[in-house]
Amino acid sequence: MTNLPNPIRPLLMLAAIAAVALGASACGTTTADVERGRVLFIEKCGTCHSMAEAGTTGVVGPNLDDAFQAARSVGHDSETIEGVVENQVEYPRPNNGDPAVSMPPNLVEGQALEDVSAYVGKWAGVPGAAPPKVPGGPGAQVFANKGCGGCHALAAAQTGGSVGPNLDEVLSGESAAMVQKSIVDPNAKIAKGYPANVMPTNYEEMLSPKELEDLVQYLVTETGGKGATPQGGKGAAPQGGKAAASGSKG
Ligand code: HEC
Ligand code: HEC
Repeated sequence: MTNLPNPIRPLLMLAAIAAVALGASACGTTTADVERGRVLFIEKCGTCHSMAEAGTTGVVGPNLDDAFQAARSVGHDSETIEGVVENQVEYPRPNNGDPAVSMPPNLVEGQALEDVSAYVGKWAGVPGAAPPKVPGGPGAQVFANKGCGGCHALAAAQTGGSVGPNLDEVLSGESAAMVQKSIVDPNAKIAKGYPANVMPTNYEEMLSPKELEDLVQYLVTETGGKGATPQGGKGAAPQGGKAAASGSKG
């Protein structure tokens, strides 16, 4: 584990908050767009950070709910947390455990930085935070919870992410097996014109089998693919090819 032990991290956080509070000149942040901040967070930060309201599950950096829970519970408000986040994005603290996995500086700048910071300030460490409920059944909820829409456009979910391909366009006519394979093993076949290693590769661990099935079903149905009939039994599991994942590195 490269992260600091749990009892130390909250103390660091309080120190960081003190430093920011000293330097802060209460510049109003009324222009921040928290909704846009959420999308940006899922896209730019969620691959490394877990945060409940965003439905992100990254584990490279600290869980941001845990990181800010203590600060919030001793009375630091959203604006203060917002300041700490802004500071960390502009001048990331080097990671003591392993500098190779430190957070890169300036992942977002200008208005985007304000939006993301306001979003994290609003939700990090808020008890019981969860992604907003969406209509459209369990698969739609998985799609929302896991932040797929931050990177992908999908008409049924009213998302407009453009980091990855528009799913209405690329999944039309695809089989459930192919859709499932693209989700759990995104680097097996890289969508043309898009970068590898951007889509998180750990959805197989992050989704329960039921969630994955619901998600695949939802995508196949909404994009008009083939095989939109659930085949509950284990024998019906898609077999993307016998060569899949023979390695066992972690
Ligand atoms: C490549 C992975 C990566 C990305 C992407 C990333 N971070 Fe980080 N982040 C880290 C790591 C690693 C740390 C821990 C540094 C340390 O050990 O102090 C960290 C620390 C933080 C902290 C301090 C938390 C604490 O407990 O001290 C905040 C706040 C934070 N990141 C916010 C963000 C935001 C907002 C974004 C998106 C704009 C982002 N991070 C994107 C890896 C990342
Ligand atoms: C951080 C951005 C990001 C997130 C989050 C993300 N994806 Fe992707 N996704 C991409 C990128 C980039 C590609 C294209 C490169 C590739 O094929 O790996 C892609 C490819 C795909 C493809 C294959 C498309 C094709 O042309 O065959 C599917 C299907 C897909 N994603 C579904 C999902 C679902 C479902 C989720 C949520 C569980 C999700 N993605 C989350 C960025 C993301």
